[in-house]
Amino acid sequence: MNAIFQGGRFTAKTASPAKVIDIRDVPRNAPPPPAVRLRDFSRHFGDNAIIEGLDLDLAPGEFVSLLGRSGSGKTTLLRTLAGLDGATDQDVVIPSSRAVVFQDSRLLPWKRVWRNVALGLKGKDVRPRAEKALREVGLGHRLDAWPLTLSGGEAQRAALARALVREPKLLLMDEPFAALDALTRLRVHELVLRLWSVHRPTVMLVTHDVDEAIALSDRILVLDKGRIVAEERLEAPRGERLELSGRLRERLLGYLGTGHITDDTDLEAVFADKPNIPFSPSDPF
Ligand SMILES: Nc1ncnc2c1ncn2[C@@H]1O[C@H](COP(=O)(O)OP(=O)(O)O)[C@@H](O)[C@H]1O
Ligand SMILES: [Mg+2]
Repeated sequence: MNAIFQGGRFTAKTASPAKVIDIRDVPRNAPPPPAVRLRDFSRHFGDNAIIEGLDLDLAPGEFVSLLGRSGSGKTTLLRTLAGLDGATDQDVVIPSSRAVVFQDSRLLPWKRVWRNVALGLKGKDVRPRAEKALREVGLGHRLDAWPLTLSGGEAQRAALARALVREPKLLLMDEPFAALDALTRLRVHELVLRLWSVHRPTVMLVTHDVDEAIALSDRILVLDKGRIVAEERLEAPRGERLELSGRLRERLLGYLGTGHITDDTDLEAVFADKPNIPFSPSDPF
């Protein structure tokens, strides 16, 4: 399923026969090929179609947020992009270097912070690389701390360091800031934007938070019942979005079905969210 670029040929490694685009056929001034490309992607669990006929392109270095109600298929899509779920016989191209940050930092409590960041790295310079990544997220003073002594914001920053130390081409985040208090969340937003502008991975951020999506993204997608039902491109510079975002915010909240509750509102329908399926402890981060 990984995308590989070899000998002038762009090959999608899937279980089906490899798709090959000969770059000699690509016009000279064509935009770069997308970092992520899904065509007519579907995911079923038993008889349940969770994602159906989904097309998705993410440009290299693009920051895309994915909004959607609980149970709309966000995590399922993210797991596909992370290569955690088989996408056998499907038209899926994803970069070979990917990293995921989850809502829970998933630090191993029995390993010091720097060792968590270094986990899986090879070579002699593992400690300096982990240190550099931790310094980038403002945790240079917590290298030897135990994870359970970190605050929620620190733990998520350590998780970001663990993702970035691998210099992924694709950074996937599944509601990574949802458990943080409002002020910490704003600070982490700034940090994420700074890290993104330095490292320039393609980013897919799953979030429930419309304001977070507006503040951070180049593009916002809304997923509903496994289909992309809305797409908004944000042209305004990130620092100037607060004043501009009122109407966009209303529109996005409308797609998410979060209208005002009145006497006629069917409360059972409003709160009929499906629970998230937890990840298994054996999932890689
Ligand atoms: N491993 C699984 N087995 C069966 N059903 C699943 C599994 N993972 C997710 N689902 C179902 O898929 C739907 C979408 O789940 P998910 O992608 O976690 O939604 P979201 O992240 O948007 O809340 C839910 O109805 C959920 O019950
Ligand atoms: Mg989810």
